[in-house]
Amino acid sequence: MVQVTNFYAVSSRYGTPEDFKRLVDEAHGLGLLVFLEMVHSYAAADEMVGLSMFDGSNDCFFHSGKRGQHKFWGTRMFKYGDPDVLHFLLSNLNWWITEYQIDGFQFHSVSSMLYTHNGFASFTGDMEEYCNQYVDRDAQLYLILANEILHALYPNIITIAEDATYYPGLCEPTSQGGLGFDYYVNLSVPKMWSTFLESVPDLEWSMTKIVNTLISDREYADKMIVYTENHNQSISGRQSFAEILFGGIDKDSHHYKESLQRGSSLHKMIRLITFTSGGRAYLSFMGNEFGHPKRVEFPTSSNDNSYSNANRQWDLLEKDGIHRDLFSFDKDMMKLDENLRVLSRRIPNFHHVNDSSLVISYIRGPLLFVFNFHPTHSYDSYSIGVDEAGEYQVILNTDEIKYGGQGILKEDQYLQRTVSRRVDGLRNCLQVSLPSRTAQVYKLRRILRI
Ligand SMILES: *[C@@H]1O[C@H](CO)[C@@H](O)[C@H](O)[C@H]1NC(C)=O
Ligand SMILES: *[C@@H]1O[C@H](CO)[C@@H](O)[C@H](O)[C@H]1NC(C)=O
Ligand SMILES: *[C@@H]1O[C@H](CO)[C@@H](O)[C@H](O)[C@H]1NC(C)=O
Repeated sequence: MVQVTNFYAVSSRYGTPEDFKRLVDEAHGLGLLVFLEMVHSYAAADEMVGLSMFDGSNDCFFHSGKRGQHKFWGTRMFKYGDPDVLHFLLSNLNWWITEYQIDGFQFHSVSSMLYTHNGFASFTGDMEEYCNQYVDRDAQLYLILANEILHALYPNIITIAEDATYYPGLCEPTSQGGLGFDYYVNLSVPKMWSTFLESVPDLEWSMTKIVNTLISDREYADKMIVYTENHNQSISGRQSFAEILFGGIDKDSHHYKESLQRGSSLHKMIRLITFTSGGRAYLSFMGNEFGHPKRVEFPTSSNDNSYSNANRQWDLLEKDGIHRDLFSFDKDMMKLDENLRVLSRRIPNFHHVNDSSLVISYIRGPLLFVFNFHPTHSYDSYSIGVDEAGEYQVILNTDEIKYGGQGILKEDQYLQRTVSRRVDGLRNCLQVSLPSRTAQVYKLRRILRI
């Protein structure tokens, strides 16, 4: 968990307030917005450096007794009903905007603050679970107030909720009883990927489950931010996404090349399907774009206060190899959206989801996406339904040599013409070559009228 001691400045480990302002200016100059992960859900319990026992009393900012401590993490829980605490937290939001020119906030662990059980209860989807005696009304009101005030004072500020319990009104307007966030991050997507990678054999991956998780809630998909790598997973001492994929590979094994190819393919395919089908916004955990080999780990007593994993190894991109290949793919994937506005188009219908061939396909805007997750089967002429009759051209292929792939598809297979046959409930059919564990994006190049 994050342990904030000073709410009004960045940690000196990272630089001075002026350094941070320069970073924000630099980002703005590049046309980027800067969002801050805002931890108002709890505070460090350390009395020497934090707010705990600030004035010598136990309940200056926080609840006293059991309620004053996070159920599992021991961090201090704010008294959101206290006007001075409200002033402190609301001023804090204002400060980051006026002083540092921040463009928005992601509210960390909203589940910790919304319930007195700190989100550690089973949620079955029953409405009762979101409005019983364990809901902290004061925390709820604080979030409503924060969103109201931020949006009223600064119409361009964006707020994002991180809430593992998916409180039903997270992104509803406050005027309709919601909490008023603009977006929420759906933790289920990265959780699904890590579960699949860590404990489901490749042949048993359920395409249906992948699709249902990515578009579970169409109604809210517009507000949903999805990602492939869970920051929480990396930070809480577990493995990073790339560590799971590449970590166990033995350089001397004769399966070395094969294992590397598997990791590289899945890394690209998972990013591509999550990015292009999950919603309107995508989050990349720092380094995920090039398969950063190690998790992030801050110096603590459990690792002998080592800084060895408290970094991102950007220098990996300076030499040829897997990281540079994975990064080239990410750049081209981003270009796909820049050029063709993929994410702003209607959330796709997955028209082909086959749990035995392990093939998934969907159409979004002018693009057709085809994934073959099968670890060993390649298909020469796989029938995929499309609406428009015409010529379709591959514009992105995870298997290209420049992305660390094998380059199995040949030049003449990049252009395909539909045949007039009803497949997947659509009027025409494209017969495509699908090498195992690869994905292709086709663009409708020419419409044929018959
Ligand atoms: C987030 O994803 C999970 C799993 O797919 C889904 O059950 C849940 O409804 C989603 N949350 C929201 C608020 O859409
Ligand atoms: C974060 O990681 C910890 C440790 O793996 C886990 O217990 C917790 O449920 C995770 N939280 C979320 C919101 O995923
Ligand atoms: C799914 O794949 C299997 C195996 O390739 C095939 O026999 C079946 O017809 C496919 N189902 C659909 C609906 O395409």
